[in-house]
Amino acid sequence: MKQTCIVGTGSCLPVRVLTNEDLASMVDTSDEWITTRTGIKTRHIASAGESTFQLATQASRKALDMAGLVPADIDMIILGTISCEKAMPSCACLVQKELGAVNAFALDVNAACSGFLYGLDMADKYIRNNPEMKILVIGAENLSARTNWQDRNTCVLFGDGAGACVVTGTDQDRGMLASKLYADGSLWELLHMDNAPSLNPELADPDYDGSYIKMVGRDVFKYAVRAMEDAIKEVLAQQNLTINDIQLIIPHQANIRILNSLVDRLGVPAEKVYINVQKYGNTSAATVPIALDEANREGRLQQGDLLLICTFGGGFTWGATVIRW
Ligand code: UT7
Repeated sequence: MKQTCIVGTGSCLPVRVLTNEDLASMVDTSDEWITTRTGIKTRHIASAGESTFQLATQASRKALDMAGLVPADIDMIILGTISCEKAMPSCACLVQKELGAVNAFALDVNAACSGFLYGLDMADKYIRNNPEMKILVIGAENLSARTNWQDRNTCVLFGDGAGACVVTGTDQDRGMLASKLYADGSLWELLHMDNAPSLNPELADPDYDGSYIKMVGRDVFKYAVRAMEDAIKEVLAQQNLTINDIQLIIPHQANIRILNSLVDRLGVPAEKVYINVQKYGNTSAATVPIALDEANREGRLQQGDLLLICTFGGGFTWGATVIRW
C-alpha cells in the first residue's frame, strides 16, 4: 500500500523582529522574566504585505519548489489557522488564488496550535484513498493581530509566521506511519479567543471586550505536558516503537519549560528535540511546519529517520504523528 510522504517543505517569517527589550518598553516585563519563564528571546511581527495568507503563500511557494511542482499540480490545500483576516472566504482559498493553484479545492482547519497536525492527518486519509493526490498542508498565523498588547501575561508569548509542506503518495518504505489526534472541548475556557461581536442582540455576549487570546497559562502548561506525553506514547505503541527508535522530535513550540519537562518525562537526550521557540515565540499552527522546514533544510532529517511530531493547543486539541522520512 502506498504511504503518505512529505516531498517539500517551506516557511516564511515576517521581516520585523520584536525583542524582549522592545517589549519591556511596552509593558511591565523584562528580558530576564521572559527568558527564564518561556525561553523566548525574539518573535517576528507582520507588517503591511505580510498578512496570514501572504505568509502562507510564500511558505507554500518554497515547499512547491522543493517538491519540483507547480501550483497547478496541487489538488487540495488544507490550512491550519486561528488568525485569518477574514471569516469568509477561508485563508486556504486566498492562498489558492494567490498561488494560482487552479486545480485545488481548499479549506481551513481550526484546531489552534494543532491545526497543522490535524491537517496533515486529514491529508494522509485523502492520499491513502487516492495516492496520486498532491496536497499542500499549511500552518499560518498573524497572532500579533489577535494579541492584547497591554496584557503582559500573553503579549510576550506569540509571534507571526507560516510553514507549509507538500504531501503525496509513495511506493517507497517511508511516510506517515501512525497518528493520533485528541480534543477536549470541556476545557475551552483555559485558552480561547472571541470572534467579532454578534450582530444578533439575542446572542451578543455582554462581556465581549475584543478578539484576542485569553489564557490561564499555568493550567494550560500542566495539561500540555501531560497530553503531549500521552499522545507520544500512544503513537509509539501503535507501531511497537520506543522513544529510543526516534531520531528527531518536533514538538509544538510554546514554551521552553514545557519542552524541557517533556524531555525529562520521555527520558530522551535534549539534542533529539528540535527547538526554535527562542527565535519565533509561539506561532500556534505555524510552529511545527516552520520547525520542520528548518530541520529539513539544516539536514537534520535523513531518509529513513523516524520523526515524531506532537502538538497541544486551544480547544483543547492535541496529538502526535510518527513519520519515516
Ligand atoms: O500554544 C499552547 C498554549 N500555550 C501554552 O502552552 C502556554 C502555557 N503556559 C506558559 O507558558 C506559562 O504558564 C506562562 C509563560 C504563560 C506563564 O508562566 P508561569 O510561570 O506560569 O507564570 P504565572 O502565570 O504563574 O505568573 C507568575 C507571575 C505573576 O505575578 P504574581 O501574581 O506572582 O505577582 C504574573 O503576574 O509572573 C507575572 N507575570 C509577568 N511578569 C513579568 C506574568 N507575565 C509576566 C511578564 N513579565 N510578561
